Amino acid sequence: MTRSVSILGVTGSVGQSTIQVIEELRGQGWDISVEAVAAGRRLDVLVDACRRLKPKFAAIADLDLLGDAKTALVGLNVEVGAGPAAIEEAGARPADWVMSAIVGAAGLAPTMAAVRRGVHVALANKECLVCAGPLFIEAAKAHGATLLPVDSEHNAIFQVLTHPDRVERLTLTASGGPFRTWSREQMAAATPAQACAHPMWSMGRKISVDSATLMNKGLELIEAAYLFGFTSKSIDVIIHPQSTVHSLVHYVDGSVLAQLGTPDMRIPIAYALSWPDRATVSTARLDLAKLSQLTFEAPDPVRFPALGLARSALDRGAAATTALSAANEIAVEAFLEGRIRFLDISSTVEQALSHLEGAEAGLLAKMPSSFDEVGAVDQAARRAARRVAGNLAAA
Ligand SMILES: NC(=O)c1ccc[n+]([C@@H]2O[C@H](COP(=O)([O-])OP(=O)(O)OC[C@H]3O[C@@H](n4cnc5c(N)ncnc54)[C@H](OP(=O)(O)O)[C@@H]3O)[C@@H](O)[C@H]2O)c1
Repeated sequence: MTRSVSILGVTGSVGQSTIQVIEELRGQGWDISVEAVAAGRRLDVLVDACRRLKPKFAAIADLDLLGDAKTALVGLNVEVGAGPAAIEEAGARPADWVMSAIVGAAGLAPTMAAVRRGVHVALANKECLVCAGPLFIEAAKAHGATLLPVDSEHNAIFQVLTHPDRVERLTLTASGGPFRTWSREQMAAATPAQACAHPMWSMGRKISVDSATLMNKGLELIEAAYLFGFTSKSIDVIIHPQSTVHSLVHYVDGSVLAQLGTPDMRIPIAYALSWPDRATVSTARLDLAKLSQLTFEAPDPVRFPALGLARSALDRGAAATTALSAANEIAVEAFLEGRIRFLDISSTVEQALSHLEGAEAGLLAKMPSSFDEVGAVDQAARRAARRVAGNLAAA
């Protein structure tokens, strides 16, 4: 199979797994050329990616690193760019498959650049949909882009969505994160290192903290609603600590289809890269006898209020989901930098949204009709969350 690909977020956890899949498939004779790669600021990892992938273009978000990047990449025959415009250019370059794996709202502009070219977009970044869901989906349809979900739960649903118009409900599974069995008192004293120590998945720091608060599942609920066209009432969340069943689709005849596998992002990445075919990848095979049991439990809304916040934002509309995601980015950053405590993350999001509902109700009531309007809501929510986090830090 011949593919020309670009990887946005090549230095991150999903980006690195994507490199592994590409190398494995190249080893099997796949003709995969790499058009562009993009990273935030980890130059050494970007250089390693360029050595392995031989892209035509490499972009780094931090403008101050342009000189160093040019020096470090000399001799690799790669054009180098820096800053947000270069990151967007990486998405706009002519690849026929683009991995969107930049973390946060920063992934939106380069992913949209790929969407506008009407190509296959492998979507790991969930914030694109949470921030700009309806506009993003409309743009994909208008430009003929194919969205291939990479988030394991959405990839699972995508794999078993045989009859989209005969679906009754969806169930998203959640591992429960590192604090599944912790008391609220223990969670109050949780450190960033503990929050990032996910029991099942090895991931970037932001999504790891989101998994610990269950905001990740809230973002995924919103992502699933926009991606597959469901309301929050038709999507359940269940805790499944073994992370083996990656989500379920319930059909009108009582049949329930699920996708199972070991928790390894190379599986959904390979599926998205080889779709509509399947590729051979050397992931660990599922051994159900060894696992011996699969367990399920309801999420606890008291210890994990973030899930409820996400559900009510989804019910409220697209501006509220934009605000939720932006406020959460600020709160997680404040926690990772040691300025607020773990339980303050959800409080920050909740208070930021209540502030916007009061002081800037018009902003949340109106469905954003352009990406500029999405940006305005995003910025207002970031300002509100910074204020709340500042107050909580000082308390
Ligand atoms: N990890 C998983 O298993 C997983 C599963 C499902 C979905 N996702 C989603 O996939 C996305 C990436 O997750 P991850 O775990 O791979 O995160 P990560 O390890 O933190 O990697 C984030 C990537 O984004 C880059 N980046 C950050 N800010 C940027 C900016 N302003 N411009 C350009 N690049 C920027 C980082 O570059 P530097 O490192 O060079 O700064 C890095 O390459 C997230 O939206 C996450 O929710 C991840």
